[in-house]
Amino acid sequence: MFNDRSTPLSLVRTRRSGRPKEMVGPGPDRAEILEIIAEAARVPDHGKLSPWRLLVVDDRDAFAALLRDALRAEDPDAKPGAYEMADGFARQAPVLVVVLSAPVSNHKVPVWEQELSAGALCMNLLTTAHAHGYVAGWLTGWPAYSQTVARALSGAGEQHRVAGFIYVGQPSLPLQERPRPDLARIVGRWPSAA
Ligand SMILES: Cc1cc2nc3c(=O)[nH]c(=O)nc-3n(C[C@H](O)[C@H](O)[C@H](O)COP(=O)(O)O)c2cc1C
Repeated sequence: MFNDRSTPLSLVRTRRSGRPKEMVGPGPDRAEILEIIAEAARVPDHGKLSPWRLLVVDDRDAFAALLRDALRAEDPDAKPGAYEMADGFARQAPVLVVVLSAPVSNHKVPVWEQELSAGALCMNLLTTAHAHGYVAGWLTGWPAYSQTVARALSGAGEQHRVAGFIYVGQPSLPLQERPRPDLARIVGRWPSAA
């Protein structure tokens, strides 16, 4: 079961991502997505810098046009299939929130720590969306690394990086569990037993 939310522990034990292209409505409305964001923004943040920005993408046509322009500018040899994929990327799932990493440079808190906080915020969004009864998915792909996209999303005079495109909706197909890491491989003790 992907959505056992009966206790906080069952929530984190059963949460898993959904595939944005398989998400359908209803998604959270304006008030609920703001609530989800407010909960997710309760994230560790060294120095209280809030080194992230969030954008709820209201106009998917405009986002699709931005991806089309970015593809044309950055990959002149892109085939029609790439344009179709970009269009699908822009339009999938009922709700899309972009998380931008907006670190404060020349601060005593290293940029790395501020970027980690942006990652934690993305993860918190997946969890809070799940706690509200939705499924969520974190994508990057080429749009997260495109200068054209970053510039357009950052706003005047800013240069942020995309930490994630977080899609939220309902799954149209049952979610499949994926293999989880073997604890013996990822957890050790220090100092290790000889
Ligand atoms: C930084 C980051 C970027 C990701 N980008 C993509 C992506 O571009 N395409 C994709 O299919 N999945 C992407 N994923 C999602 C994962 O591949 C996958 O959905 C996730 O690991 C499922 O884990 P979960 O079920 O525990 O949530 C990304 C995950 C992270 C953390």
